[in-house]
Amino acid sequence: MKYIFKEGSKEKPTLLLLHGTGGNEQDLLSLGNMIDPESSILSVRGNVLENGMPRFFRRLAEGIFDEEDLIFRTKELYDFLDEAAKEHGFDRNNVIAIGYSNGANIAGSLLFHYENALRGAILHHPMVPRRGVELPNLQGTPVFIGAGENDPICPSQESIELQTLLANAGADTDIHWERFGHQLTMSEVEAAKEWYKKHF
Ligand code: MLT
Repeated sequence: MKYIFKEGSKEKPTLLLLHGTGGNEQDLLSLGNMIDPESSILSVRGNVLENGMPRFFRRLAEGIFDEEDLIFRTKELYDFLDEAAKEHGFDRNNVIAIGYSNGANIAGSLLFHYENALRGAILHHPMVPRRGVELPNLQGTPVFIGAGENDPICPSQESIELQTLLANAGADTDIHWERFGHQLTMSEVEAAKEWYKKHF
């Protein structure tokens, strides 16, 4: 996978940055820096192209995911994290994902499919990645969900559904509401930063 790694303090988590559709590994670097300027950064580019726009997995239509590809790409990212930890010497058990939109969806999918994939996650405007599957034990995994009351891509009831599914698997979830559609606003980033300081 194409990525940027920046080494930070060994005492700090590694922030896994996952961009939205049409983004790349440069997009969220300043966001990562705002959340924790001392942490290591692993910022990854999605391996799938949709009309030239990078994504983390294929979709059949807006909001309808190609489930087979989602499962394949989730494993690909999971395996990549193991390899990157060996190569760059960061603690694989101390990785916190920060994802926006499509990037939040693959981060959610890591949580849905693997126990201990992530120590925690900040999900900006995520959707429910899959339905009808049993989630692994997520006891003690803090998850921040930034959601929009009027998000046209992820309706508010889907944000609540995601929170419920994660909480039922034991995750320690917090949901933060905004009213700016699917946009990632500075006040949402500030809320995520406060949440991060409380948990890590
Ligand atoms: C997705 O496909 O992951 C969601 O619709 C969000 C996005 O537009 O990327």
